[in-house]
Amino acid sequence: MTGERAPVVFDAYGTLFDPAALAEPLERAFPGRGAALAVAWRATQLRHTWLRSLMGAYVDFDTITAQALAQTVREAGLVEPRELTSDLLARYRVLPAYPDVAPGLASLPPEQPLAILTNGRGATVAATVAAAGLSGRIPVVLSVESVRVYKPSPSVYALASDHFGLPPAGIWFVSGNAWDCAGAAASGLRVIRVTRGASNGSEAVGPDPSATIPDLARLASVVLDR
Ligand code: LAC
Repeated sequence: MTGERAPVVFDAYGTLFDPAALAEPLERAFPGRGAALAVAWRATQLRHTWLRSLMGAYVDFDTITAQALAQTVREAGLVEPRELTSDLLARYRVLPAYPDVAPGLASLPPEQPLAILTNGRGATVAATVAAAGLSGRIPVVLSVESVRVYKPSPSVYALASDHFGLPPAGIWFVSGNAWDCAGAAASGLRVIRVTRGASNGSEAVGPDPSATIPDLARLASVVLDR
């Protein structure tokens, strides 16, 4: 990229913010089951986004998250304690950032434009960004709310090009979710996959990412190199 620095657009959950942090309150509610429930909840939540997108039956991500929690708890043969859903949804608004996020962002030049492109509700994700102290560095949250369909619909990834007024190939997209990377690459964005130690590789259905890094500490080495 010549001239101005290419924008870097981040996925939110699983990339900047760690949904696995919700294993702890789940563990308190369901001793011995917290970690497995958190994983199943996240998988159900994502599956619901894909089902609803194919069905043309959009509801916002907070609603999906609550419905997925109820289904996950029910399928595990458990009964949701009162207030658990509202407690966990409140915690979603203050999900911690992964420890490599702040130093990873700090390693980029201040003039590098940054944004988030997320399935999440704009207000919810903006609250999470603020709680993590990142609003100053990532001032823009682009949400699927405006197109009422979820990733990996091309309409979602087009929000990044529309916002920055650039072709997709002029924008970096960073995600810890392999399926999100596949969708973004299929839409022409320049994708950096963050593995975070996960063993799952790239999805075979989309173009490979331009680069794969273990965590955001390596972000600048890719972004500043090209
Ligand atoms: C998001 C989900 C995909 O933040 O992690 O968009």
